[in-house]
Amino acid sequence: MDGYIDWHLRRHKEAAFADLPDTIVEIGSGVGANFRYMRPGTTVIAIEPNPHMHRPLRLAAERREIELEIRDVVGERIDLPDSTADAVISSLVLCTVANPSKVVSEVLRVLRPGGRYSYLEHVVVEEGTPTRRVQRMVRRPWAWVFEGCSCERDLQTVIRSAGFSFVENHSYRIHSPFLPFNTHIAGTALKE
Ligand SMILES: C[S@@+](CC[C@H](N)C(=O)[O-])C[C@H]1O[C@@H](n2cnc3c(N)ncnc32)[C@H](O)[C@@H]1O
Repeated sequence: MDGYIDWHLRRHKEAAFADLPDTIVEIGSGVGANFRYMRPGTTVIAIEPNPHMHRPLRLAAERREIELEIRDVVGERIDLPDSTADAVISSLVLCTVANPSKVVSEVLRVLRPGGRYSYLEHVVVEEGTPTRRVQRMVRRPWAWVFEGCSCERDLQTVIRSAGFSFVENHSYRIHSPFLPFNTHIAGTALKE
């Protein structure tokens, strides 16, 4: 699905991931879908607990000339010291993690003052809409097919209430036959 998803998100990723620093912490790197948005020579510390992702992730890093360091831990317990990261990014990850609030609080902990968290995620839609009804109806098969993904998370509130000093967030819709997946947020949150 990499090409399909990237085609829908490219414009938003280009904006959210513009001007990233030379070293980035990425939560849930998967198979490296975001490496194409980084300069060759960038160092990525990948917080990726799924060992099946590690080989393709290494290959993608080689292809894109990314210096890769994989940390086999969950985003809820990042093994990095406090206040050390210039930037943390994630895309399509907070829908899958066990505890998105804990992950975002870990992001805030590891960021240095002045550091940024840039993200793209898909989210729950407004109550009372037909899409919301579909999200409710398909929640179980959706989670089953997409390996624990929830299409019902209010991640904007999770990020806004995490304690960042400033959050620039916007929502947008993509034209996708996967209705429960068509509403997204993207933005950057700053640590004071
Ligand atoms: C849907 S994939 C997204 C991959 C990639 N970020 C992208 O945009 O294509 C979700 C990724 O999050 C990882 N993941 C799942 N639970 C996690 C957790 N608790 N902490 C960090 N990563 C996690 C999965 O292994 C998977 O690689």
